[in-house]
Amino acid sequence: KRITFSGIQPTGIPHLGNYLGAIKNWVSLQNNKSESELILYSIVDLHALTIPKDAKMLQKSKIETTIILLACGINPKKCLIFEQSKVSAHSELSWVLNCITPIGWLSRMTQWKTKIQEQKNIHSIEDINMSTGLDLGLFAYPVLQAADILLYKSTHVPVGDDQVQHLELTRNIAEKFNKLYKKSVFPLPQTILVPAKRILSLKDPSKKMSKSSPFEFSRISLTDSPEEISQKINRAITDSQKGISYSPDTRPGISNLITIYSNFTGLTTEQVVNKYKDNDNKMFKDSVTEIVVTHLQPIQKEIEKLKKEEGYIKDVLKDGANKANEIAEKNLKEVYAVIGLCN
Ligand code: TYM
Repeated sequence: KRITFSGIQPTGIPHLGNYLGAIKNWVSLQNNKSESELILYSIVDLHALTIPKDAKMLQKSKIETTIILLACGINPKKCLIFEQSKVSAHSELSWVLNCITPIGWLSRMTQWKTKIQEQKNIHSIEDINMSTGLDLGLFAYPVLQAADILLYKSTHVPVGDDQVQHLELTRNIAEKFNKLYKKSVFPLPQTILVPAKRILSLKDPSKKMSKSSPFEFSRISLTDSPEEISQKINRAITDSQKGISYSPDTRPGISNLITIYSNFTGLTTEQVVNKYKDNDNKMFKDSVTEIVVTHLQPIQKEIEKLKKEEGYIKDVLKDGANKANEIAEKNLKEVYAVIGLCN
């Protein structure tokens, strides 16, 4: 049976990277799913605790993120959408997996290093190690992620490129568990990537676009106004080479804009380049702005509508958590039986 799981952190307003790299694909997977396929999308609030925020802000972000997912087309009739902390089996399985995950595997993960680098404004990633103010939760983040996925015996996980390493770790943990307890409890989940798997920062195209960057101009949030979108795209770092060409290695800035254009319109990057090759950067940027604004407009309209329906949003989350809990409890029971924790 195909079971699809993915998650998003309620750490701010989702941006174009989240949308093109993940959410847009979540919607199409949901719309093309077979009758028997189960799809779960979780607002991973326990993960969000690894970047400490004001409690009220976190609460607000959860509702906002849910509204945005629904506005993007996630349909609660076709998939389960729920808050991670409302299904306690995530934390419980996470502990079980902590007990079989070598520190060495986690120390090779790159995300905690990038997060510390961002938080503490450290110049070189080589200067970061486990004693550079690393909290245990941030270090164990990928194990909780593995628990999210394995708890539902997921087979497919649609994510952006930055999560590929965590998915490999998830498979390693699943394999180790199955071998250790001589029972194939967990399937090894497949990573599903889309062509827009890595949308870059508009301010520094050597980095990915990210919710946690302190630079507003580095990302386009899904709720940005047409004026903000135009300003941000116009200020996006490109290069001084003439004309438009697609070359992610040598022209990352302009190639990033081509990727954005391509993924909104469905044109290939070659078709986009052909259409605009004689344009200067400014003209091309205006066209990208137009495409982004046009595609975000209906989503933003829906966001405004849903903002007035907080009761409905809470019902959707509650219903999702109830259904997720049913599956999670059953699977956790099986795990507990296998490891010797049943009555
Ligand atoms: P989060 O909230 O950082 O990101 C949500 C999704 O957006 C993708 N993404 C991007 N894709 C392309 N370009 C970008 N610049 C970009 N930035 C983010 C992410 O890859 C992700 O798919 N660890 C996950 C949350 C999580 C999860 C899980 C995912 C927790 N448990 C279980 C899958 C399965 C994360 O950081 O999400």
